Amino acid sequence: MNRKDFIKTCGLACLNFSLLTPVLTGCAGVKTVSLAIKNDSVYIPLSEFEKTPGKQEKFFRYIIVENETLSYPICVYRLEKDNYTALLMKCTHLGNELTAYGTRLYCSAHGSEFGVEGQAVNGPATQSLHKFPVIIENQQLKISLSI
Ligand code: FES
Repeated sequence: MNRKDFIKTCGLACLNFSLLTPVLTGCAGVKTVSLAIKNDSVYIPLSEFEKTPGKQEKFFRYIIVENETLSYPICVYRLEKDNYTALLMKCTHLGNELTAYGTRLYCSAHGSEFGVEGQAVNGPATQSLHKFPVIIENQQLKISLSI
């Protein structure tokens, strides 16, 4: 390997590492729960967002909800104490399943990114994610799956 090839190879390796860093960082605090669906709704106890005492952050920024009957998981963001969003993790470009990291949902197929309100922030996707209605009932988050 000559000097030029070596620099080119190292440059690509560094670029790959810098692109992966946000994804890997985002994996550190991911919580996934498998919940039952009752009357076309999913119920999440608000306590599921609490981290164990002693952690620097007191709450999970988001939780991934899975159910075997759902084609895609749902990402539930805790924006504030009483403000949550529930987003279907299906890319609006060509339907790839999204990955959550930090305050973004990322599509590994072609690089689209979505914000915590489901808005497309990086293309090629231009449409927002499907957003489920969310209300708080008896210290539980009720996500209505019916449209
Ligand atoms: S399927 Fe997500 S960007 Fe293409």
